[in-house]
Formats: sequence, structure tokens, C-alpha cells
Amino acid sequence: MVFDFHRGRRLRRTAVIRDIVRETSLSPADLMMPYFVVETDDQNFKKPISSMPGQFQLSLKQLELQVREAVENGLKSLILFGIPAEKDPVGSQAYAEEGIVQQAVKMIKGIWPDLVVCTDVCLCEFTSHGHCGLIKDGRILNDPTLDLLARTALSHAKAGADIVAPSDMMDGRVAAIRELLDESGFEELPIMSYAVKYASAYYGPFREAAESSPQFGDRKTYQMDPANAREGLREASADVIEGADILMVKPAGPYQDVIRMVRDSFDLPVAAYQVSGEYSMIKAAGINGWIDEKAVVLESLIGLKRAGADLILTYFTEDVLKYMGNK
Ligand code: PBG
Ligand code: ZN
Repeated sequence: MVFDFHRGRRLRRTAVIRDIVRETSLSPADLMMPYFVVETDDQNFKKPISSMPGQFQLSLKQLELQVREAVENGLKSLILFGIPAEKDPVGSQAYAEEGIVQQAVKMIKGIWPDLVVCTDVCLCEFTSHGHCGLIKDGRILNDPTLDLLARTALSHAKAGADIVAPSDMMDGRVAAIRELLDESGFEELPIMSYAVKYASAYYGPFREAAESSPQFGDRKTYQMDPANAREGLREASADVIEGADILMVKPAGPYQDVIRMVRDSFDLPVAAYQVSGEYSMIKAAGINGWIDEKAVVLESLIGLKRAGADLILTYFTEDVLKYMGNK
């Protein structure tokens, strides 16, 4: 035969051949687990989040038990979200020295000094109106919010956080946080910026989990329009200039083009957040027996690595650690 056609099947012949030519891989260090910690006196508090089967709101004590098991299974990093006992219009509990996130950071770092503890820096879980910034006349104020975000990040730093992750989408917040951290002796603390964050319907289940739904309007005046990719580059550039150390794209699966673009346009590590709605859709189909959940989870995550993510925030982290340990 003169025409020697491509024989792709040569390298797919056995499992071991496929292993040695595989282009991307997934390891425990790629995965960051989100946890929801609640300020409560009830140490046994462990409340299932109905829209996210397998996920819970946890008291400090229950968080400790949950993290202990995950660490035994190889957990390397986590991100904390807090649900305060009291909310007010200025989100005071976000930057309170003894706020729930601050307490959780201290507890975890006290027990597991090597675990990477990241904190979400935002006001929406702490404000009575549920928006990520201060409000005046029904509008979300940008510049007056920056100081509160910076104070929140600093309080997390003082509690011992390893990385702070602003998710609010106010303009200039990375610079404001960097400046206050540097002034306060935390010049070595990295900022993982939710740089390219869309106003997404995929956050629905999270808002039940974090009790952070906006009480009026939506987040479209600060989070990005899902139709825009180039704008994501402008957002990412701004955060790079302001001092971000890691750039995040969120949600992940529906925005893999954006992950690839950010990966190719900057030399910083890229994180992808597989958000609550992405989790719940896979989970629901798995529970119903419509898909092979384990296989779809692994395929969804390897897809994000292939798109260029260095780090993935995913509610499947604990499950995947078990898969990896063959548990
Ligand atoms: C808070 C925040 C949100 C998420 C992470 N940080 C919700 C939002 O912006 O409305 C979403 C995470 C998820 O859906 O899993 N600003
Ligand atoms: Zn927020």
C-alpha cells in the first residue's frame, strides 16, 4: 500500500502504552476543597446542603473532623467560606478578629501547619443585603468597599491563612489588599484573585450553602457578562498589574476557552473553580444512575487540566482523593 495512513490506535493498544503517552495528569496537589463553616455553639452541627448532595455546613468541630479525614486521604489545600451568626449592612463579621473564618483558620493551622489554607475574601456572606459590597440607594459602591475587603484579607492573614482569595469583583481590590498586607508585614502572603469571574447561574446551589443570595437585584453590575472572553483578559491584566499571584477563572467547565486564553496570555499559575452548579449537575445525574459519576468527575477535571488549569477548586476533591487512594 502506497498511502500509509495514520495509525493512532498503535498508542492506544494497551493500558500501559496509554499511560506512558498521556499528556495531562491529575494529582492531589491539583485539587483544592471548599468548606462552609458556620458560627454556632452546637458542636454537632453538620447540616446537609440540599442542592449539593454530599456537601455540608459545618461547625468548627465538625470541620475539624471532616478535614482530618480528608488529610488522611491526601488533602493538600482547602478554601474556607464562613457563615456568621449575625449579618449587618457593612458585613462586620467578615473582618472581625474572632469571626468564624478567622477562628477556623486558627484551628486548622494549629493542627495541620503544612496544609494550605486559603480564604475567600468577600462580604456577601456577611452582609444583610447579600451583596459583595457596600450599598447606597440600591447601588453597589466600589471604592468604599475596598477598605473593608482589605481589612478582611488582613484579618485572615493575621489568623494564619496561607493564601487570600478575593471573589467580590470590585475594581481595584487586589491593589487595595496588596497594599494593606504589605504595610502590615504580610508581603509574602500570596493573593489568588478571582480574576475572571462571570455573573453565572451556576452559583445557585452555593448561595444556599453560604446563605449569600442578594436580597435585591443581581450581581451583573460587578461580575462579568458570560458572553465576553476578551474582557476576561482585561480583568486578568488589571489583577496582574495590581499584584495578583494566581489568576482564577470561574466557573470552570463552561469557560474552558477562557482558561486556555488566560493560561497562554500570562505566566502566572491559573486556577479554575468548578462551581456549585457544575458539582450538583454531575451529582444529580450520578445519583439517578444516568451517568457513571466517578468517570464523569475525572473526565471533567482532566478537561480543566487540559484547558490549562494548574489548580482546580472542586467540591469533588474529597471523592477524588479517595479514588486516587483506591478507597
Ligand atoms: C462569593 C462567592 C461565590 C462563589 C464563590 N465566592 C458566589 C457568588 O459570587 O455569588 C461561588 C462558588 C460556587 O458556586 O461554588 N462572592
Ligand atoms: Zn461575594
